[in-house]
Amino acid sequence: MNNELLDELNGIARTMVHPGKGILAADESTGTIKKRFDSIGLESTEDNRRDYRELLFRTEDAMSENISGVILYDETIRQKAADGTPLVKLIEQAGSVPGIKVDMGAKDLAFHPGEKVTEGLTGLRERLAEYHQLGARFAKWRAVIDISRGGDRTMPSYSCLTANMHALARYAALCQEQRIVPIVEPEVLMDGDHDIDRCYEVTEQGLKILYTALFEARVALEGTILKPNMVIAGKKSDKQASTDEIAEKTVRCFRNSVPAAVPGIVFLSGGQSEREATENLNTMNRDFADQMPWALSFSYGRALQASTLDTWKGDKGNAEAAQRAFAHRAKMNGLAQKGAWTEAMEDEA
Ligand code: 13P
Repeated sequence: MNNELLDELNGIARTMVHPGKGILAADESTGTIKKRFDSIGLESTEDNRRDYRELLFRTEDAMSENISGVILYDETIRQKAADGTPLVKLIEQAGSVPGIKVDMGAKDLAFHPGEKVTEGLTGLRERLAEYHQLGARFAKWRAVIDISRGGDRTMPSYSCLTANMHALARYAALCQEQRIVPIVEPEVLMDGDHDIDRCYEVTEQGLKILYTALFEARVALEGTILKPNMVIAGKKSDKQASTDEIAEKTVRCFRNSVPAAVPGIVFLSGGQSEREATENLNTMNRDFADQMPWALSFSYGRALQASTLDTWKGDKGNAEAAQRAFAHRAKMNGLAQKGAWTEAMEDEA
């Protein structure tokens, strides 16, 4: 890779993890946004999806102060606001960077019951070139790693890990070739009943395989962002870990597996509540800042949007209150990025 391209990609990546800012994951696929709208009793039409995303992107304080970038879905990157302004322009005008989800979803991995491999490499070079023209400066590809239930250790299999990390590496190289920063997202799900130490083990193994695959694909790490899960117990585990244990184990896991050349690590929320996602990020940045060579921030979907959606309910009359809810979450996570959040700040709003 020539120096000019490396500088360009590194500049974008560093903007994405600017102090006090993080990423809004608004890239719910048509199926996922339908589930979110079902929860507020709203039909998932193209106009409703547009209105909702427009409401988010027009929340000026959140977008200019705390949101460095927005991950869009294919439909959204082509959509216009009600007044005809492209949604991408709204994001740019707020000083935030548009990005795009480019994977085609996790499909069943043949002969590996319960395991998935993410698809979408075919034609990816051409799709990335078009997304760049539409304004995208970074992309996202999510791999899904599930952990066996009941103490069984067959999942994840080594072949599930290598297939997914290899796909992430091929995706990342294509992104960089097309002047786009790849967010590499190997998500270890928190759905199971495993304890935090099993999550640590699987997350570490996945990351080691990922960084070997990225090296072999000649990806320049300075022009990438990692989007991992936190090291955390499964939702159904009867041994839930404290925020201090989550923070200590997550940072230790990354120090053992994420190279220092990576500019930033941005977490997914993965089913944590808004409060938990904020508190855990805050604890890491408050207690371990001097141990981390990378910026540590957020790229939350549900943990930035849950109360916004609940407040909005698809009703125009609730739009301002919904924007206040979004601005509040963005601000709280912005503070957590600096390790400066406290519980008391939640109630001051
Ligand atoms: P959640 O924060 O809701 O897990 O979504 C983030 C994301 O983009 C998952 O791919």
